[in-house]
Amino acid sequence: MTPAEVSLAVESVSKNFGGLAAVKEVSLRVERGERRGILGPNGAGKTTLFNLIAGDLKPSAGKILLHGQDITHMPNHQRAYLGMARTFQITNLFPNMTVIDNLLLAAQALDRAKFSMFRPIQSHEHIVARAERALEQIKMGDLRDIPIKHLSYGVQRQIEVALALVEEPKVLLLDEPTAGLSPAESAEMVGLLKELDPGITILIIEHDMDVAFELTDRLTVMHEGSILADGPKDEVRNNQTVQEIYLGYG
Ligand SMILES: Nc1ncnc2c1ncn2[C@@H]1O[C@H](COP(=O)(O)OP(=O)(O)OP(=O)(O)O)[C@@H](O)[C@H]1O
Ligand SMILES: [Mg+2]
Repeated sequence: MTPAEVSLAVESVSKNFGGLAAVKEVSLRVERGERRGILGPNGAGKTTLFNLIAGDLKPSAGKILLHGQDITHMPNHQRAYLGMARTFQITNLFPNMTVIDNLLLAAQALDRAKFSMFRPIQSHEHIVARAERALEQIKMGDLRDIPIKHLSYGVQRQIEVALALVEEPKVLLLDEPTAGLSPAESAEMVGLLKELDPGITILIIEHDMDVAFELTDRLTVMHEGSILADGPKDEVRNNQTVQEIYLGYG
């Protein structure tokens, strides 16, 4: 049997903010197509870890590899070009613009990052097709021309997933996609995420253990910047320390 392909490797990565060690020597290996949940109490360092992986922050130490390529010092738009996309913990849409215009803007920005150095920007049709494909993937084609501000928060969060899908990612980082959603909206988001292309490697920061358990194969639990537990989801959920430190908060 051939060894599973490692999609993302984080090697002993740390991030200090002044005197605060927000991420401490974190190492992760995520296989191609894996669904990985990242859990941990507030301030554990989960979003900071995503910022480091996506290139929105520079690590104080350590290395990050995407499909074996060292991307530690690569700017975020180049990582996007290599297939890394993310969503944010806080809503990132333009409320007065329509759904399709938000997606077009993302598609355009990506094209500029990809091609501006080498050749003129890709055709308008190419950009539109990319935006429409992303909307189709979340099955919301009928909302195409509706301004964002007229949509429920639950639907807006789903549009944000489409915003990341515009990049046709190989690795997708989702920062609390169900935060602030009602149970019904959360169930819809889970349904959407389950339908995504199984070839995409997905890391999901999630506060709700039940949601994480439903969506992922393996769980990584962070606490005070370090990894407290990492492994198959059943093992992690039954881990005594995880139950004391993390689930105690739930
Ligand atoms: N840009 C920054 N400058 C200074 N400190 C920061 C910065 N970003 C995060 N921190 C601090 O780093 C620690 C980890 O924050 P982070 O946002 O990564 O936690 P988190 O696990 O995502 O928490 P939450 O569940 O609340 O989203 C916190 O103590 C936070 O205050
Ligand atoms: Mg966070």
